[in-house]
Amino acid sequence: MQNMAILVGARPNYMKAAPLWRVAGEEAPDVTRTLVHSGQHYDRQMSDVFFGDLAMPEPDICLNVGSGSHAEQTARVMMALEPVLVDLAPDVLVVVGDVNSTLAGALTAAKLGIPVAHVEAGLRSFDRAMPEEINRMATDAISDILLTSCRDADANLAREGVPAEKVHFVGNIMIDSLVQVLPHLERSDILDDLGLGKERYVCVTLHRPSNVDDPVKLKDIMDALYAVSDQAPVVFPVHPRTRKALDGAGWTPASDSLRLLEPLGYLDFMRLTTCSAAVITDSGGIQEETSYLGIPCLTVRENTERPVTITEGTNRLIGAAKDEIVGAAREILAADRPPPPEIELWDGKTAGRILEVLTSAV
Ligand code: UD1
Repeated sequence: MQNMAILVGARPNYMKAAPLWRVAGEEAPDVTRTLVHSGQHYDRQMSDVFFGDLAMPEPDICLNVGSGSHAEQTARVMMALEPVLVDLAPDVLVVVGDVNSTLAGALTAAKLGIPVAHVEAGLRSFDRAMPEEINRMATDAISDILLTSCRDADANLAREGVPAEKVHFVGNIMIDSLVQVLPHLERSDILDDLGLGKERYVCVTLHRPSNVDDPVKLKDIMDALYAVSDQAPVVFPVHPRTRKALDGAGWTPASDSLRLLEPLGYLDFMRLTTCSAAVITDSGGIQEETSYLGIPCLTVRENTERPVTITEGTNRLIGAAKDEIVGAAREILAADRPPPPEIELWDGKTAGRILEVLTSAV
């Protein structure tokens, strides 16, 4: 491999790309690296701040596609990326995760005959109402190198008929970023800024369309968070999609202990998470981060593409009903924190294994 391009587009991509970028620079200095940002996420707090926190360079190429419907966004990434890939002619395009930019990148490269490596392949929620499930399935179907984070992903790919020689169980690269940042978390002032001392508090994130785009469901969840905030302070960095939904519903906080914040950077968010008593979320990545850290996680969804976080980690699916959320939070707040589990190959060394696979495959 002489020339590798990595595509990122949205917030959950950066922590999956950064370790590979760094390790390739250290261990394969002769390989030319090009970092392409689709611009799917563009707000400073959804993008730039992460590049600083993760010690990533500015992207070499920004496609500036911005927001739009799924078709618009996917098509814009493809149209902007195609001439870039023709020009770069990389030996491999690395795509990560399951956002629209991931699928768009894989489709564009595959049709140009450029090998595609998918980091975080094989995850399945078996819920095609989730846009990410379509992105995952379609990306895996056209990828040449499928890099998996857990054994159940291997099993999913085998069931779909993906030849075993294309699949490489390398572990969870997002945990590489987490391991890297943990010693530096004290640099974050977020707890002081929020006046959170040693008291137990709950950290919340919500952004899934299935939860936040439906005003009735969102109100039910917010009512639940109010009720939880009677037991412990609740801190909620709000995703732009969710902020729009809350603004649209004319919603204003009515409790001092339910704190709504702007989205946080990686360092601040991980500081907030590691010190929390519990996390309530509908994110995919946070189910994994909390599992690694041993922090109880209540996932406001009916399913997960990351079942290992339930069987081996600290995650629990609770759906979006108010009583479930409040009851589960009460149980956790009354209990001691479990010891952090050990999950196979979630060890901070995944990027090195990916680099090995790539250098021998392309
Ligand atoms: C996307 C991913 C989702 C991922 C999430 C993490 C897809 C299909 N979804 O969802 O898998 O979990 O990112 O955040 O790719 N917006 C801003 N500023 C930004 C970005 C978005 O204001 O920097 C607003 C826009 O109104 C936009 C909306 O948020 O329309 C949704 O953004 P979009 O990228 O379409 O999807 P996410 O909900 O962020």
